[in-house]
Amino acid sequence: MKRVAILISGRGTNLGALIAAQDASYKIILVISNVEDAGGLQKARAAGIATEVVPHGGKSREAFDAELDAALRAAGAELVVLAGFMRILSDGFARAWEGSLINIHPSLLPAYRGTKVHERVIAAREAESGASVHFVVPELDAGPVIAQVRVPVEPGDTPQSLAARILAVEHKLYPDALKLLASGKVRLGQDRTIFL
Ligand code: GRF
Repeated sequence: MKRVAILISGRGTNLGALIAAQDASYKIILVISNVEDAGGLQKARAAGIATEVVPHGGKSREAFDAELDAALRAAGAELVVLAGFMRILSDGFARAWEGSLINIHPSLLPAYRGTKVHERVIAAREAESGASVHFVVPELDAGPVIAQVRVPVEPGDTPQSLAARILAVEHKLYPDALKLLASGKVRLGQDRTIFL
């Protein structure tokens, strides 16, 4: 049973899915938000999970990440899951948690890293997009992919409609990928994902 901390900044629908999917492989012991009124905090509290707010304003990236790190270690977190956490983490933090730190991104990585993903996918007239769960490494959205699901781009899609179709898929993909990691079925090897 791995002790999992989840980092959020917003509404936390992925957090909700991860809470609902807890099984013998992982237990969510802490939810941290950098935004005080993030909707996801209510979801965590309603589920009886400890929450912490770590504001980022007026701090260097390194100072903010040091606070995060201290909170995670104090809680005994073993795995750290980013779920709509809208801060770029420092290289030092990413390295300290490498192999135990994952993120979900709404594209078929390595395509469309970064922000405004759906706008760019639609502008490029892609026939499909999707969602990816990946290990976090210092370079943004560039870590090895653990699991990925393809989603069609429909004619007339707006960024909002495409985002909603992908989000529904994320809610199954993220718990599935976390269970692979928590149960030792996948781990980060030398620069690549290794399935045991
Ligand atoms: C998701 O689209 C996820 O892929 C991205 O941020 C969004 C978070 O949504 N990283 P929610 O807060 O989980 O609803």
